[in-house]
Parts: sequence; C-alpha cells; structure tokens
Amino acid sequence: MTAPKTFRIKSFGCQMNVYDGERMAELLGDTGMTAAPDGADADLVVLNTCHIREKAAEKAYSDVGRLTREDGTKPIVALAGCVAQAEGAEAQRRSKLIDLVVGPQAYHRLPHMVAEAAAGRRSVDTDMPAISKFDALPARRRSGPSAFLSVQEGCDKFCTYCVVPYTRGAEISRSFAQIVAEAEELVAGGARELTLLGQNVNAWEADGHDLASLIRHLATFGELERIRYTTSHPVNMGDALIQAHADVAKLTPYLHLPVQSGSDPILRAMNRSHAVDSYLATIARVREARPDIAISGDFIVGFPGETEADFEATLAIVDTVRYASAFSFKYSPRPGTPAATMAGQVAPEVMDDRLQRLQACISQHSTAFNASCVGRTVPVLIEKKGRKPGQMIGKSPYLQSVFLDTAAPTGTIVHARLTHALPNSLGGEEVTLAAAA
Ligand code: 5AD
Ligand code: SF4
Repeated sequence: MTAPKTFRIKSFGCQMNVYDGERMAELLGDTGMTAAPDGADADLVVLNTCHIREKAAEKAYSDVGRLTREDGTKPIVALAGCVAQAEGAEAQRRSKLIDLVVGPQAYHRLPHMVAEAAAGRRSVDTDMPAISKFDALPARRRSGPSAFLSVQEGCDKFCTYCVVPYTRGAEISRSFAQIVAEAEELVAGGARELTLLGQNVNAWEADGHDLASLIRHLATFGELERIRYTTSHPVNMGDALIQAHADVAKLTPYLHLPVQSGSDPILRAMNRSHAVDSYLATIARVREARPDIAISGDFIVGFPGETEADFEATLAIVDTVRYASAFSFKYSPRPGTPAATMAGQVAPEVMDDRLQRLQACISQHSTAFNASCVGRTVPVLIEKKGRKPGQMIGKSPYLQSVFLDTAAPTGTIVHARLTHALPNSLGGEEVTLAAAA
C-alpha cells in the first residue's frame, strides 16, 4: 500500500465522538493528508464508532465490509471510537479488512498507526494512557461559529445499563489551563459559541475550579458570545452551577439533564443515585435561577423489571417537567453490564409500544415549547446558509434551529422575531435591536 493522501472520518454516536473526529482530522491534516471530497474514494477511512446501544459491533463490521471497492481494492481501514475500545484485538480477528484499531484515549497515535498500515503492518492501540492524549494533539486553528470543547471524559457512576465506564474509562478532568488555552484557540479561529463536553461534564473539577467557575472565566472572553455544556448528571448539579444560570448572561438557558425513568424502583435498579423527588427538586432550583430555561432529557423504556406502572411514572415525569426536547431509547442489553443479566427483561413488542407512547408525550411538550416561543424576539447565532437564496440558519439560545432571511454572515448574532413553529425548527424575521427592545 502506498502512503495515503486522502481520508474520510465517519463519526457515529455522541458529540464527544464528533469532537474526537475533528481532532483526528486535524492530526491527519498535519501529516499532509486532506479530507476526501464528498462522494470521492478516500485512501483512508476512519470509522469512529459508538457502542451505546443495539448491535453496535455488528453494525461496525458490516460498515467495514462495505468499504471494499468494486475493483476489489480497499482503503486503509481504521476502527476508532467505543466499539474499537470494546473489541480491541478481536476486531482484527473478526475482519481482515481492518488495518488498525484505535480507542478513544489513544487516537493521538493515529498518524503513526496509519503509516504502519501503509507499510503493511496492522496495529491495535486501546491503551488508556497515563499521558493524556490531549498533551499530544495539535493546537486548534479554525473553527465554525459553534465549537465543541471536551473538558471531561469517562464515568465513575456505573449506571447498570451503560457501557461508557468501560469504553471511556474513569472520570478524568482536563486541566483548567489546557481548556482555557483551547478555548482561546477556538475563539481566535472563529468560534462564537463553545459547548463544553463531558460524559459527566458537571463533575468537571481541576486546579481548584469547578464547572461554574470555568464558565465564569470563559464568559470574560470578549468575542465569545455563548457557553453551553453537556451532558450533566443530576447528582452533580450543584448550587454554584445553578447560580451561574442566574447571573452569567453568556450561559445559554438550556440544560440537558437526563433522568432515564420516572420510577424510583427502576432508578434504584439503574444505580442512578438519585430519586424522582430529588431530580424534580433540582429542576425546580434551576427554574428558579433561570425561569425561561429549556430543559432536555434522555429516557430509557423497557429497563429489566419495568412494569406498566413504572412506565406510566415516566410519562408522568415528562408531563411534570414539560421538556423542551428529549431523547428516548429502548433498553438495549450491553455485554458486560449488570443489567444485561438481570431478571425481568422486557419483551420487544412491549418496548415498541412504550417507546411510541413516550415519544408522543415528549413531542406534545416540545411542540408546545416551540409554539410558546412564537412572537418572542431572540438572539440567533447564524451558523450556515439555508436552502433558499438569502436564507440563513442559526440557533436560538434554547438550541432551536431558526430559519430567517438576513444578510448577516455566519458567526454573527442577529435578533429575530419568531414567527412560526415547525416540528423541529422555527421561522423568524430579522429585527433591529431598537425594535427588539
Ligand atoms: N440502552 C438504551 N439506552 C441507553 N443509553 C445508555 N445506555 C443505554 C442502553 N444500554 C441512553 C441513555 C443515555 C443516552 C446517551 O443513551 O438514555 O443518557
Ligand atoms: Fe457512544 Fe457513549 Fe462512546 Fe459516545 S461515549 S460514542 S455515546 S458509547
């Protein structure tokens, strides 16, 4: 195989994987490779996989199988992300097409592993090294208006359904100085909004700072307009962070706070370390601090032992919280997790039925939330061109997509009066600030 010149990275799963994919692209770019244009063959394909649900490994192997070209040749194939971490060396035993396997904590070694692959040598690296990959990654140079910034990785909470503690390892926080340096690079490269990422982002703490004080520091950056963070765990939703929602203007009124179930027995079986009441009390405090905040969540239906009454309690908590948006999933047994072998696994048709009912309930609330915004004037961060001439698409502070006609370029904030709500977005009209006031 000759040295590859072009690459394609396909990221699945969470925003952390999107971030990791960007960092891998930057690393490969520094070796002189370029991203393959859409539709063109790439010399290297990186599958940046997710292991959270369903037949993740099987899907990854079938994606690998499809990379063989019509003439029988194939690109260099890299299996990255959480399936790579979970499968390790087994991946190359199962598929001879995979040249290298690299885990989420080891991808700073990707360029070296690609060079090895080009020389005909296969490699596996799923180390969770003592030296953080972040020390070995290049500086950020360019950024779109909205950028992800990983501040925390891994999880020590061990929810009984979840693979993350195994694929991403123990909770680690990046240093304050390193995060601030990367934030400065991203803002200098064009970012106007930063989303701080972590599997338990609100557990971040380093060098005497907690997430609230990190946010307060970043809010002093003149050109940075908005700060977001995701995903939070209810038990780490401390007073300081809630207070930041009250008095940091750049912190957006949006909180993703998964509860997973509205039933205490199920929350206990999930090892969630919070109850329905304590979760609702946290939501109430957040709403007191920031009355207009949009709350979003994650739910699992059909966890082992979930009865119809447990499920109805989940519908009830959705009605109580009135989520602005929420994601819901059928429970999927993950190899090696405690819940996979629990008694009372729920039949697939029962899960299908519950998922449908839950999604109908969530959609009522998200539609109502969007409808309640019509008539309001909100700042919109312009992110890209729309499909119609003159149209641009941006985000409201509540993370809604907003379509509007404007001459404002990407990366600017315009004020828009929201005129109509569609199922997953809103239409708006640009207004001048005087009219908005
Ligand atoms: N089955 C179904 N959903 C899951 N999630 C995590 N693990 C599983 C699983 N085994 C969901 C949770 C989590 C989101 C990222 O994925 O709702 O918050
Ligand atoms: Fe998927 Fe979790 Fe890995 Fe993200 S961290 S890619 S959600 S398994």
